[in-house]
Amino acid sequence: MQVSMEKTAGAPQAKTGAPHMKITKLSEHIGAEVTGIDLRQPVDAATRKQLYDALVENITLVVRNQDFTPEQYVAAVSLFGELMPDESEKNRLPEQPLIGLINSRAIDREGKRVMTGERWHSDHVNQPQPPKFTCLYAVKLPDKGGATNIANTRAGFATLPADLKKRIEGMKTVNVIIGSASKSVNADRRAWQAEAAPPPVIHPLVRTHPDAGTKALYFHPNKVENIVGMSPEDSQVLLEDLTERALKPEYVYSHQWRPGDMLIWDNRSAFHRASFDYDPAQHRLLYRTLVKGDTPR
Ligand code: SIN
Repeated sequence: MQVSMEKTAGAPQAKTGAPHMKITKLSEHIGAEVTGIDLRQPVDAATRKQLYDALVENITLVVRNQDFTPEQYVAAVSLFGELMPDESEKNRLPEQPLIGLINSRAIDREGKRVMTGERWHSDHVNQPQPPKFTCLYAVKLPDKGGATNIANTRAGFATLPADLKKRIEGMKTVNVIIGSASKSVNADRRAWQAEAAPPPVIHPLVRTHPDAGTKALYFHPNKVENIVGMSPEDSQVLLEDLTERALKPEYVYSHQWRPGDMLIWDNRSAFHRASFDYDPAQHRLLYRTLVKGDTPR
């Protein structure tokens, strides 16, 4: 069912520099669609605020019918904040390094296909200030499949039993490039971790949203070395259990890509995961941008 925000809010949308822009909720728990705006054109402060607020409220926005060059894409996402590059230089678009590549044809040093984002996670949590928003723009799409799935982790946290919430609320994760007990088989990341061994970064397992004040689960299972006080193996078991309990189907928006879609989500209230259900002979290429965040609390 599609519910207009104007109707649910009970008030007409303010007049803005984008008079045809419409923001429509996609479900009760997550997602809104934005139409009637061309983000290559200047956007005034009121429209920008409307988009930002809709993103925080709905956790993910799909902005339809865009047609960007790399520079225009970077400018459009910059409406939501300052961008930061992908941590892996290898993943950056050479002519615009603020764009990272999600490329179904990427292979690691052992010649294996790189399955970027195959598990529910939040981005770059091994950094002291991970990105608050992640954005994707479709460049090449398979004929079918290859959705990007976004899950509401604040509803996910809220749904957990009270004693479990209490148990995990003070927990801290120790984050690295790739955790020793994680399921990831990416040989490049394993080598990077072994060679560079950057200092681990500690984050809360349950974080509080700085704008909304809501609590949400917060981790990337491949990047967690351990939860403080637990072994790497036991930590992975707990993370898997939390993911299974919290991410109910009604909290998930599965974005079936159409050409011209720009999809952005709030990592402070969301996990995401790619679907690998498409023909691997077909090319799937997305441009990813990251908006700087602050220290998770
Ligand atoms: C990711 O950012 O983890 C990948 C998402 C996708 O490929 O849909």
